[in-house]
Amino acid sequence: MIVDNKLLHVLSGGKPAKPPIWFMRQAGRYLSEYRQLREQAGSFWNLCFTPELAAEVTLQPLRRFDFDAAIIFSDILIIPHALGQHVEFLPNHGPWLEELDFLAIFKIWQDQTYLSKLQSTLQALQIVKQNLHLHQALIGFSGAPWTLATYMLNLRKAHQFESVLSLLTTKPQEVSQLLELLTDVVAIYLIEQLKNGADVVKIFDSWAGVVPIEARDELLLKPLMKIVSQIRETFPKAPIIYFGREISDYYPTIIKNISNLTLAFDQFVEPIQIRDQFQTVIPVQGNLDPALLLQGGDELTRATQNLLDVLGKGSYVFNLGHGILPQTPVNHVQHVIDLVRQT
Ligand code: CP3
Repeated sequence: MIVDNKLLHVLSGGKPAKPPIWFMRQAGRYLSEYRQLREQAGSFWNLCFTPELAAEVTLQPLRRFDFDAAIIFSDILIIPHALGQHVEFLPNHGPWLEELDFLAIFKIWQDQTYLSKLQSTLQALQIVKQNLHLHQALIGFSGAPWTLATYMLNLRKAHQFESVLSLLTTKPQEVSQLLELLTDVVAIYLIEQLKNGADVVKIFDSWAGVVPIEARDELLLKPLMKIVSQIRETFPKAPIIYFGREISDYYPTIIKNISNLTLAFDQFVEPIQIRDQFQTVIPVQGNLDPALLLQGGDELTRATQNLLDVLGKGSYVFNLGHGILPQTPVNHVQHVIDLVRQT
């Protein structure tokens, strides 16, 4: 079964002749069929919270490109939303969150009422699972506690290192309580996704790069270790992918402390470094620059070929270093897939 499924094969250390391929944000605005359903649904949350629609949007890119994996259509901000913090997606402004009322979310966490708001994603997973071919894997996901906290505390404008530092010194108690709560919720949510059909889970730590180096152990590693060990109590062999954006210099510490993790790389690391420093120890995923995918042309071909030449012989999942940009032409996506499949 695992050998039939390229992604699962690679995540357990296999080295198929051609790497599996999927793209971060493979469902989304660069696809006309997505834009059409998104308009019919009226809002992004309506898409996410209607299991049939979320399943349909998840499957759209697989129909078009026969990717080796589906990633369930949802958003990392479903967790703050489920915890009662108001989240909106304003056109061209990115996500907006109301000011955090810590006591209110603490109560919702204790009562566990947030779980009912996550059910539609679990149902969507079940629907997608029934519609996948054996060779396609299903990926569930969550934001990492730190990244969720940066959104919930509105910390992320312009890489605010200073505000992170001052928050850590002025309100250490609040930050650690919030992280503890989120660590618990993320672990439960990922376990539920595995129970409902996900073959793999991915943890997005997109704002890891703003954490001061001396606080990484506490804010990034500790929550991740807890989540992984909690998942493995229920699913000892569940493949887990971690994406820590702009912290590849910290990846060696993560590997030392957590075994059997697959690491996803952003586009700021050289493929040769990924091969020599990491691929000898763990499976790796990444890291084509989404700006090149948008741009196309010879440079895209060269960068894709380089990734295949350098990483293609080891345990490797072909992917981007970050999400597909909405203006990306679909023929560029097809071009990369053709290159990956013809090697
Ligand atoms: O195809 C997939 O990858 C699955 C779905 C998915 C979405 N968001 C859909 C989405 C996944 C895995 C995410 C993860 C996510 N969301 C991350 C982690 C990865 C990363 O990009 O670093 C983060 C930081 C978010 C938060 C978020 N949600 C942002 C920054 C935005 C974009 C806002 C904008 O308008 O550009 C969203 C909204 C969002 N999530 C969209 C999609 C397809 C676009 C909303 C729309 O269609 O109107």
